[in-house]
Amino acid sequence: MRFGILGPLRIGGGESTVTAGRDRIVLAMLLLRCGRLVPVEELVDAVWEEHPPATARAQLQTCVSRLRRRFTELELAPETIITDPAGYGVRTTPSDLDAEVFARTVEAARAAVAAGRLGDAGERFRAALALWRGPALGGIPSRSIRRRAQALDEQRLTVLEECVEVELRLGRAAELIEELTESVDQHPLRERLRGQLMLALSSVGRQADALAVYREGRRFYAEELGIEPGAELQELHQRVLAGDLALAGRETRPVGPVRSLPRAIGDFTGRQETLARLVKEIEEDGTRIQLIDGMAGSGKTTLAVHVATALADRYPDAQLFIDLHGHSERRPLTPTTAVAALLRQLGVPAERMPENLDDRLALWRTELAGLRALVVLDNAATADQVAPLLPNGSHCLVLITSRRRLVGLDEGRPSSLPVLDADEAIELLARVAGVERITAEPEAAAEVARRCGHLPLAIRLAGARLAHRSNWRVATSPSGCSPGRARWPS
Ligand SMILES: Nc1ncnc2c1ncn2[C@@H]1O[C@H](COP(=O)(O)OP(=O)(O)OP(=O)(O)O)[C@@H](O)[C@H]1O
Ligand SMILES: [Mg+2]
Repeated sequence: MRFGILGPLRIGGGESTVTAGRDRIVLAMLLLRCGRLVPVEELVDAVWEEHPPATARAQLQTCVSRLRRRFTELELAPETIITDPAGYGVRTTPSDLDAEVFARTVEAARAAVAAGRLGDAGERFRAALALWRGPALGGIPSRSIRRRAQALDEQRLTVLEECVEVELRLGRAAELIEELTESVDQHPLRERLRGQLMLALSSVGRQADALAVYREGRRFYAEELGIEPGAELQELHQRVLAGDLALAGRETRPVGPVRSLPRAIGDFTGRQETLARLVKEIEEDGTRIQLIDGMAGSGKTTLAVHVATALADRYPDAQLFIDLHGHSERRPLTPTTAVAALLRQLGVPAERMPENLDDRLALWRTELAGLRALVVLDNAATADQVAPLLPNGSHCLVLITSRRRLVGLDEGRPSSLPVLDADEAIELLARVAGVERITAEPEAAAEVARRCGHLPLAIRLAGARLAHRSNWRVATSPSGCSPGRARWPS
């Protein structure tokens, strides 16, 4: 994206901007109208408001010349700015301007909602929201700009509300509370956000907090606007009071061992040395915290689950698994949210969930004390995200996966997972695509594996494509799925 208005003005794709006040106003006006001509009067009005000097038009021309020079410095074609008797404009394609990309992504998210594809919708909404770097065109004082920027900020909030609605329907109340609390603080008049926070709180069993959020809002509306909350919010309040917002996921403590590991894959291939080494280090050398890093799709999660499953007998009381979202389009889980989810897996009911991080961590340590438990922390973002979650007992094993090498943890044995070796890669391809076909064309199979960079994810994709096309020959199959081009599921 060459131009950014969803935050401070940015041009050229990086952090660069335009510094002179008038130039900023002019460029911002042109970008707000991206593609269309802005009449000179409007620009004059935006720059000088009620008091334009007699030389305004000439000065405007100087601004545009300066902008063109700035464009050249940033390797943007100066003729991107169009001059016309009717006014000025910026020539952009839809992917040039962040606000355009935002609008299109939101459109796709809404279509996904309409088609009932909520997971997809949630991801698209999040991708759209992630384009924002701060209030639109922050720091440009012109009244015309402020008015238009505010409209953009409003759109962002509306999209946030739509996104939260989808995520609430997906049962993600617990993960949303922090973000919603912050947003309600910043935008106390948005009733829909407030209602969503009340819903999220009550659906994890925090009715008292949900009611407090309502009371605060009510006081705020009365003091600021002299009005009562709207009908919808009032009705929600009644439902929280009546306790009829059934608590999704309220449960009693499970009896017996807790198992939340995903099922290990049946066609786990290769990695025998790595497995043997990890198991030995854990069983004999007493490794308690094992870090596994490696590139996307290299098989970190698969390996961690495989090791965990193999060692499950040694940790019979609990086998926990959590995706910390370190590398997805969503925000990484905060330690506060992550520890709550882990406590929930251990059977701590929502109404017993402490409010703040410290109390949750204390409970986490108490719950784990004396348990022989193993915990997989998948997709860690940073050392700071996982450090608080590490139990101190010696009866627990923690396996952490991350695309980055986590530095700064006091404990933890690092291990970098490479791609498969050539033989393993071909073996996996054979398992997915069919052994006969691969053995019939050994050289072609080796070439496919090589083109996949021996990356398990890429090989699985190439193999699955072959498996679906029984008439393809391995040699001519389109296996070019380099990591650069494929979209990795996280
Ligand atoms: N040893 C293996 N044997 C068979 N399949 C494997 C193996 N390792 C990985 N795979 C397959 O490769 C794909 C990617 O693996 P996985 O999700 O574990 O990668 P990852 O490193 O965790 O990726 P990400 O960084 O995106 O989380 C999966 O489809 C998985 O089934
Ligand atoms: Mg993974």
